[in-house]
Amino acid sequence: MEIIVQPREMQQRSEQNRCQGIVITFVPTMGYLHEGHLSLMREARKRGDVLVISIFVNPTQFGPGEDYAQYPRDMERDLALVQDVGVDICFTPSANEMYPDGFQTSVEVHHVTENLCEASRPGHFRGVTTVVAKLFNIVKPHLAFFGQKDYQQLIAIQRMAEDLNMDIEVIGLTTVREADGLAMSSRNSYLSPAHRTLAPGLYRSLVKGKELFARGERNAATILNAVRGMIEKETAAAIDYVKLCDARTIQDIDTVTGDAVIAVAARLGTTRLIDNIILREE
Ligand code: PAF
Repeated sequence: MEIIVQPREMQQRSEQNRCQGIVITFVPTMGYLHEGHLSLMREARKRGDVLVISIFVNPTQFGPGEDYAQYPRDMERDLALVQDVGVDICFTPSANEMYPDGFQTSVEVHHVTENLCEASRPGHFRGVTTVVAKLFNIVKPHLAFFGQKDYQQLIAIQRMAEDLNMDIEVIGLTTVREADGLAMSSRNSYLSPAHRTLAPGLYRSLVKGKELFARGERNAATILNAVRGMIEKETAAAIDYVKLCDARTIQDIDTVTGDAVIAVAARLGTTRLIDNIILREE
């Protein structure tokens, strides 16, 4: 595996690969990798010729007072973890290379970012779409892979790629979970043992919502009351939101009539966790 630090060098390498007809697949990450990332990489490995990953903790997607400085970082561990996956290039730029003096451009996707996480993380999605647009321009992938745990992020990136004619297939893959159902996330490492025990209650509550849907319930308020009630009872987490949205537009809905998503964000101690479950007619 080759490590490339300079954006220009990464760009030139990808340009050469593209000229030779090589299919580039890409998994962007902020590091502190877990099985969720590795499963994206394994799928990306299968779908192309050259697999590029990036490890970059992007400062512009963290708000003031958020965990940018504390975000877990361990490059040595990450590089060891990806050895067996068949990664060809790991792109690890510095913040100065990505955002040099004078940087003043951003990419903003509007409607799909206005609900859910935007209220408590204003500007977060602007930071995400800006860095992903930059990474796409540098890595020049044909296919890029993202986890569905960050569902709103996935939809925003798909929207951006389509709206800006990026000619990149943005693929979302199923959330990878711990044996007890907790969605894998680098931030799970922040959880105290007591909160780690409570955290899977979030997913169990989402499953309860999906069970109601499977039994024919279509009223959003009824489903959300059940999910919220179970989160409160099982986890005592401080709920940021529990919402039922149209799966494509991320707008709140009153009645489920097509593909929908139940999305939750809640804090256990100081750790903010997000998760979601898709409701789809069988
Ligand atoms: O999901 C993440 O890890 C990040 O938001 C991403 C897509 C790598 C952009 O920094």
